[in-house]
This record gives sequence, C-alpha cells and structure tokens, in this order.
Amino acid sequence: MLGDRDLRTLSDEEMRQVRGNDIAMIFQDPMTSLNPVLKIGNQIAEAIMLHQDKGKREAWRLAAKLLDRVGIPDAEKRVNQYPFEFSGGMRQRAMIAMAISCNPDILIADEPTTALDVTIQAQIIDVIEEMQQAYESGVILITHDLGVIAEIADKVMVMYGGRTVEYGGIDEIFYNPHHPYTWGLLGSLPRLDQTEKTAHAHPGAAARPHLPAQRLPVRGALPLRAARVPRPVAGARDRRARTRRALLDPRGRAPRGPRLVAAFPGVRQVSLLEVKGLKKHFPIRTGILKRTTGQVYAVDGISFSVEKGETLGLVGESGCGKSTTGRAVLRLLAPTAGTIIFEGVDVMAASRTKMQRLRRDMQIIFQDPYASLNPRMRVRNIVGESLHIHNIGTEAERKKRVFELLETVGLSTEHAERYPHEFSGGQRQRIGIARALALNPKLIICDEPVSALDVSIRAQVINLLEDLQDELELTYVFIAHDLSVVKHTSDRVAVMYLGKIVEISDSAVLYDQPQHPYTEALLSAVPIPDPTTERARRRIILEGDVPSPANPPKGCVFHPRCPRAQETCTAAMPALSSTGGDAGERHEVACYFPARFTGGERSVASEPFAGANPPASA
Ligand SMILES: Nc1ncnc2c1ncn2[C@@H]1O[C@H](COP(=O)(O)OP(=O)(O)OP(=O)(O)O)[C@@H](O)[C@H]1O
Ligand code: SF4
Ligand SMILES: [Mg+2]
Repeated sequence: MLGDRDLRTLSDEEMRQVRGNDIAMIFQDPMTSLNPVLKIGNQIAEAIMLHQDKGKREAWRLAAKLLDRVGIPDAEKRVNQYPFEFSGGMRQRAMIAMAISCNPDILIADEPTTALDVTIQAQIIDVIEEMQQAYESGVILITHDLGVIAEIADKVMVMYGGRTVEYGGIDEIFYNPHHPYTWGLLGSLPRLDQTEKTAHAHPGAAARPHLPAQRLPVRGALPLRAARVPRPVAGARDRRARTRRALLDPRGRAPRGPRLVAAFPGVRQVSLLEVKGLKKHFPIRTGILKRTTGQVYAVDGISFSVEKGETLGLVGESGCGKSTTGRAVLRLLAPTAGTIIFEGVDVMAASRTKMQRLRRDMQIIFQDPYASLNPRMRVRNIVGESLHIHNIGTEAERKKRVFELLETVGLSTEHAERYPHEFSGGQRQRIGIARALALNPKLIICDEPVSALDVSIRAQVINLLEDLQDELELTYVFIAHDLSVVKHTSDRVAVMYLGKIVEISDSAVLYDQPQHPYTEALLSAVPIPDPTTERARRRIILEGDVPSPANPPKGCVFHPRCPRAQETCTAAMPALSSTGGDAGERHEVACYFPARFTGGERSVASEPFAGANPPASA
C-alpha cells in the first residue's frame, strides 16, 4: 500500500506514474544504471520532463541545480559531461540527483555506498540524509553494512533467506535483538570503537556474557533449509579437532595472550622483512605505437619492516597501492626501485634459484577467492601445485600433505576431488589459505582475504588466520580497506594514501591517537554499528575525490583534501618521521602539522613540525 493505493492493483501506466513521482530508486552500481552514452544532464532532465510539466530548457536548468544540490562542483559545466567523466562518488551523487528530481515520497536506496571508499561513502551518506530532510522523503535503505544503518536508520528490518526475521526500532534491534541471526550479525563484526577487552560489553550482548574478549564470536549461519549442522568429529586428529572446535564453539577459545612483539614496546625485534624506498610505477601507453606517455605512481617510495611473528596491517582506499605493494614485495611484479630484505637476504638481487627458495617462505592469499582459484583444477591439485613445482616429496607424501592442509583449514579430505565452483566464498578462501600454507611459509601476504566474504563468514576466516598464526608461527602483512578488520588483526598498522605510507604505528596507538589528518578522517568515516555512538560522533567529511595516481598533487599528496593544509604543504612531501609521542620511534607520520602539535582537525600550528621537514634534497 502506498498511502491508500494498493500498488499491486495498478496498471502499468499507473505504476509508471508512481515510479519517479512517488517512489524513486538509487541503485547499487551507478555505472550500470546510468546510460553511458547520454550526458548526465540529459538523463536527469529526461526524468524531470517525464514526470513534471517542464520544458527542456527548464529541465536542464533544474538538472544543474540538482547536481549542485548534491555537491557536484561546477555543476553548470558538469551537466554536459558523460558518466565516464565522473568518479564513482560523483556518479552516485548524480543518481541521487536523478532520484530526488521529482520530489518522491519514498526513496529506495539499494546499497548506495557499497562500491565506494569510506571517505566517499561518508560524503554520500551525508547527502542522502540532507536530501531526506530537505525533501521530507521516507528512505528505505538496503544494505549489509550495519554501521551505515546505525548511522541513519530509525527502524530496521533484518532479512535472512528471503524472510523477515526481525523488525523493530533501531535501538531495539541493536541493543536488544531477539533473533539468533541478528545476534550473530551484530556479534561477528569487529568494531572500530571497541578495544578487544570491551568488545561485546554493550547491553545487547547481555544474553551471552560468556563470550570472551579478543576472538570474534562465530555463529554458524542459520541453514536455509534444514541441513545438518557439522560437529567436530570425535577422535579426529588433534590439530583438526582443535581448529574445528575453535571455529564451531560460539564461546571461542581463550583470548590470545599478547604476542612477543607487542609485549615489549620499544624493544625492536628481529625484522623478517625490511622494505626501503620501494617504488612501482606502471607506464601508461597510448596510441598505435604504444608510446609511454606517462606513469601511474602506484607505489611511490615506501619503507616499512615486519618483525617475526607480528601482523602488519596495510590500509588505505581503493587504488592507493596496497596490492601492488604486496606483489612487488614477493617480486610477482618487478619493482621500479627500492630494496627488499627478507631474513637478511636481498630479494631484489636474488638469482632465479635463490628466488625459488625464497618463494617457499613468502606466500600470498589473494584478494578475490572467486578469481584466484583455477576453475578447471581440482582442489587437490590447487593446494598441492606448489609442492609439485618445487618437487617436494613423493606423490603419496604430497597427497598426505594436501589432506593435512585441508584439515588444517577446516575442510575435509572429501573436498580434495572437487572443483572450486562447488564451494562457497568462505570455503574458497580456505582453499586459498591451504594453498598458501603448503610450503610452510614464514611470511604470508594476506591481500584483502575477507573483503569478498559475508560478514558472518568473515569472522570465521579471520579467526582461522589467527589460529594458524599462533600454531605455525606465521608472520602476516594484512592488507585491507576495512579499518575495523585491520584493528582486530594487526599488531601494527600502516596507512597508505596515493602510493605513500602517511602514518605507521602500533595498532592501539594509531587508533587512539591518529596524527595524520587522513588517518583521522579515515577513522571518523567508518560507520560504527552502534546507534548511540553514531549519534554522538563527529565526523570529518573530506572534500573531493582521491586524486589519480597518474597525476599526484605536488608537495604533500594529501594537501588538496586536507583540512589542515598550509602554504608549506604544497612545497614538498613531508618525510615519514617519529612523532615523538608516547610510542616513540614506533609511531611515525608524514605530515608538517600532525595532530599532536595542532590539537587536531582544523586548528593549525604556526610552525611546521620539525621532524617532518623534507630532506635538503627534496
Ligand atoms: N598492471 C597495472 N598497470 C597499470 N596500472 C596498474 C596496474 N596494476 C595496478 N595499477 C594501478 O596502480 C594503482 C594501485 O593499484 P592497487 O591494485 O595496488 O590498489 P589497491 O590499493 O590494492 O586497491 P584496491 O583496494 O582497490 O584493491 C591503481 O591506480 C591501479 O589502477
Ligand atoms: S603536510 Fe600539510 S597537507 Fe599534508 S597532511 Fe600534513 S597538514 Fe595536511
Ligand atoms: Mg587491492
């Protein structure tokens, strides 16, 4: 029912009137829902002419006004551009402009921010809220992101397997959920605003006070049909039983003690990996002759070290160079410059045979579990491939090892003969993990290992990675764009922006006392799945989009979007140097005006921070 009209009884023509006039929709992916061959202005004007009695001229004028209203700079000119000339965030704004063009009573927004980076997501949520208030529309927001819900919703409907499992006011759902699926959904989220110790301390968790801190609670997803819930097999092999038990037991295992590296802050451990001045530039080739006409500065002079047994988190928005860093470190991509030292061995200078030996110790888990497994290979061959390549063991020994690995990651030996398409996303990621473990590596680069997975599966995979780290003494570089996941998994975190590391520190310190304005903005942009916290929070909304790495700004790469930028900032990129704060040498920032000296966001010190002064050569 829409008002007193039953929509199901309306004719096609009447329904067409309803769409656009009374109900409008913002789609998940603006690229596929905007017409690529029509100018943005055309598309908005068309919607206006269809539903309102306006001439073409007036419709175009309104279109420009709407674009301006949703925050597109230079709207008068931009109406004449095509969708491909807009960035992802701008396309989403254009979609919103089109949806509100006829002042609908109800606006349905289908995952409007899913494809966007956090800082852009924050801008879009802002626009939707503003439009809702200005036009007094009701908004139905469809999303899997509980943080976004906590931020803007008044009422929530939780769906599972095509049914509504719970419906209620925002506070009721978040603080007093009744359905086990809702508990699971809320409980399996690592949260930015909680330290491990206080996790699950909000009233909603009262029903499960036995949950330990530290580990993410894993609840088996509810079966869509009545299926058998797997149980750990009695008498199964030790490690398998332990891993399985850890994954199935909703109480999880005892919290992990602080690892060696974190236990003695200030005491430098042995570095397993040292990266200095790493650069990876991709040539841009154009024309028939494929002449190089420019460079993409994907990774532009970054340095970091990873100590034995620790997890270094690498965060930043899409395209900032995280994956490229991971691949360059393993020499899957040839670095443009820099040194990489692994266990004292210069990786860049390693011969082919030496490199083959090094590859055993350094492995990678890829970003996309769907694309990274060869669909034509059986799981047995995927997991055992590297054993084969490195000529390790006899056929029988290799088979035994593959079975062992499958059990380690919580799969069973029957899975060995199957093909990747027979597995779910979470299971595929386990296969990817088993493959990475095959050669007993020391370092694993985990490139967004959980980004493609559902929230409830994410917790399982994260827990598995942590268990394996403890059992096998692994060292991880954990790449992610989700700051909450990184906070949960990492001992130290490096924040990347446009091919550079702008801040690096122990995870607790970085989240507690961010120094770089970009880190501050990133942290403030992540929606927190807690309505009370969300209501009280002040967000830093960055203006503009992430610049192209093919044409990075001069001086500090962040200056065009930085709320603290000064004249000094446009001269040279500040060097990464110690903030001199509580964490000492371990906390480094690349900024002339870090928060410690300026007191945060907009206030500005008169003198630039001496530590960040560019070297004389810069
Ligand atoms: N083979 C390539 N040729 C040209 N440019 C590339 C290539 N690989 C990556 N790039 C560019 O380098 C930049 C960094 O890419 P990278 O994949 O490292 O980003 P990322 O931080 O991993 O992003 P995401 O979060 O989206 O995975 C991007 O601008 C990308 O377009
Ligand atoms: S150096 Fe200047 S522009 Fe760069 S982050 Fe710091 S204050 Fe902002
Ligand atoms: Mg990537």
